[in-house]
Amino acid sequence: MSTIQPEVLADVPLHAGFYSFKLKQTADARALCAQVNALYQVGNSLIGFGQGLLDALERQIPGYHGATDVDGPERISPAQQCDFWLRLSGEDPGQVALLERSWLEALSPYLDLLERTSGFKHREGRDLTGYVDGTENPEDRAVEVVSMEGEQGIAGSTMLAVQLWTHQLDKFHSHSQGDKDNIIGRRESDNEELDDAPISAHVKRTSPSQYQPKAYMLRRSLPWADAGRCGLYFVCFASSLYPFEAQLKRMLGCDDGVEDALFKFTHPQQTAYYWCPPVKDDKLDLSAVS
Ligand code: HEM
Repeated sequence: MSTIQPEVLADVPLHAGFYSFKLKQTADARALCAQVNALYQVGNSLIGFGQGLLDALERQIPGYHGATDVDGPERISPAQQCDFWLRLSGEDPGQVALLERSWLEALSPYLDLLERTSGFKHREGRDLTGYVDGTENPEDRAVEVVSMEGEQGIAGSTMLAVQLWTHQLDKFHSHSQGDKDNIIGRRESDNEELDDAPISAHVKRTSPSQYQPKAYMLRRSLPWADAGRCGLYFVCFASSLYPFEAQLKRMLGCDDGVEDALFKFTHPQQTAYYWCPPVKDDKLDLSAVS
């Protein structure tokens, strides 16, 4: 049976809050872990440990490191590594708000909230550009794609990369329908992949099978919108950080100087990496960090 946190494998929720925290200087990291596990519930919570929290616990997770800026020929993808990450989910914004209230109150002795983003499922799972997001996810072998190997406490844990993207939708919609389809590499109308898409098309840059080794990941991103600004809260899981790092570099044009056409209208901020502990008997198995 899989020990991956069930919310990794579940479909994207209808509503979610994404929270990034910094550990307070005086916080007792072990007491924080106990508090997190008391609050953790299968069905509505998803947890990631960042570098600062692992350092405070004096534990290392094989293959894990905090995110750093990535330089491409045209731009930088900036990192903002935090110490603890949380996603709360529900079927309506009220459910998320009530969960948020109890989590934030209970975590406040240990953590300062640095960022909060509200995400939502748009139609059947579309980005705010209108394109379906998640079509090529390897759902049929998701456990294999995301599960780390190792001893108990590591086996069935997973690596997480998150990235807040801000869209300029006016720029996107200034392109013709054909050009928009070429930016993504799929037709918006029927979601079919374009055989003749340019090499800058997003799916041409990221198709996992073209990487050596192959760079499979499970994406669970959600759109966000706030006071006229909007974008995608990109979330992906894999058994190591390699698929995300390799794909981000290729999107930036680090390999061949060709940038992902997504950069014509959207920009990443705040990349961070987290380690998501496994579960045992519906609670987090924190034996690797205790
Ligand atoms: C604003 C940011 C992004 C948007 C709007 C976006 C949107 C999309 C869309 C519409 C697709 C096609 C349908 C699908 O298979 O899901 C797609 C595919 C994909 N994206 Fe993204 N994406 C974004 C960022 C990223 C990032 C940062 C990565 C990895 C570093 C990534 C990795 C992938 C992968 C692996 C695929 C599947 C490619 C294939 O096998 O055809 N995406 N994305």
